[in-house]
Amino acid sequence: MNRVMVTGGSGFIGSALCLHLVAERRVQVLNVDKLTYAGVPASLVEIENNPLYRFERADICDAKTIAGLFADFQPDTVMHLAAESHVDRSINAPAAFIETNVVGTCTMLECAREYWSSLSSGFRFLHISTDEVYGTLDDRGLFDETTPYAPRSPYSASKAAADHLAKAWFHTYGLPVVVTNCSNNYGPRQFPEKLVPLLILNALEEKELPIYGDGGNIRDWLHVEDHVRALVAAAERGRVGETYNIGGRNERTNLEVAGAICAALDELRPRAAGRHRDLIRFVDDRPGHDRRYAIDPAKAERELGWRARENFDSGIRKTIRWYLDHDGWWRPLRAGQREAGA
Ligand SMILES: NC(=O)c1ccc[n+]([C@@H]2O[C@H](COP(=O)([O-])OP(=O)(O)OC[C@H]3O[C@@H](n4cnc5c(N)ncnc54)[C@H](O)[C@@H]3O)[C@@H](O)[C@H]2O)c1
Repeated sequence: MNRVMVTGGSGFIGSALCLHLVAERRVQVLNVDKLTYAGVPASLVEIENNPLYRFERADICDAKTIAGLFADFQPDTVMHLAAESHVDRSINAPAAFIETNVVGTCTMLECAREYWSSLSSGFRFLHISTDEVYGTLDDRGLFDETTPYAPRSPYSASKAAADHLAKAWFHTYGLPVVVTNCSNNYGPRQFPEKLVPLLILNALEEKELPIYGDGGNIRDWLHVEDHVRALVAAAERGRVGETYNIGGRNERTNLEVAGAICAALDELRPRAAGRHRDLIRFVDDRPGHDRRYAIDPAKAERELGWRARENFDSGIRKTIRWYLDHDGWWRPLRAGQREAGA
């Protein structure tokens, strides 16, 4: 892996990936990102002047521009993360999810196929997806790579469609595709609409901490840097045509997540009066809210030699410290959200 085209590299996971590839792996990276509301150039300041890193503002649905970037950059690997990613937004305005996640992925696959057909050396297309494509679990069981797809939100349905396209381009055209399906990520530089940064930043600003329904929905939390290492392992060692489920065996209810954040903040940044958990408020549940996701990562551990290093309790404390130390990163985003009426 020497020349990597990353789509969505200005988002939460994409920026962690670009930072890892450039600063630690010393590979050439082209970040292709449209810079929607979720794209944050400030996430990449550490590498923006690094000669190994290049940024192009482009829409993955724009076939002409994407084809030009393939021809110009000559990647040996594509890591495709660009997506609309917030379930609540997909419920209110699904069309953008179909456009970027489905049409955009189709455009990426077609441009990759055209480029790859003229290559003599190796090429990999890593399609990055979510465990939400598998639908919802009750109290028992885990998602593995044979679990049937059963998406239930516009977001997960659009990602499921994209996964099927990626697999179809492998089976039909032989494009060397690898698919990863990962559980909920948390860590530095996550856009403040998502649960973990929302709770941390609301708590710091003495605002209510909204929890959907009874707070009993369960997610399987993975630190973003563990996800990044899994993506690199899948791109380098994954078998083409295969899917790898990525997860950290860290199931927590949303209420437990809120409780862990409140307890850590009570220590790291105590309130003048009361405890942070007093700010928790239960709000009406999200329509169609999946009850439980849980990943069996055994195949990735066995075949990729990857294993999550961070457990939730240590990872969440590190994450909180990052937000405490980087208010210059999140304050402008919070102000932008307030202006947009979010
Ligand atoms: N966040 C999670 O917990 C999680 C878990 C599993 C899988 N995933 C998947 O990982 C990927 C990245 O997720 P994230 O949380 O970093 O998302 P994000 O919303 O933080 O970032 C998405 C990035 O894609 C860019 N983008 C959006 N539309 C685009 C377009 N049409 N053309 C080019 N760029 C565009 C945005 O500007 C942004 O930089 C997504 O594919 C998501 O489905 C996320």
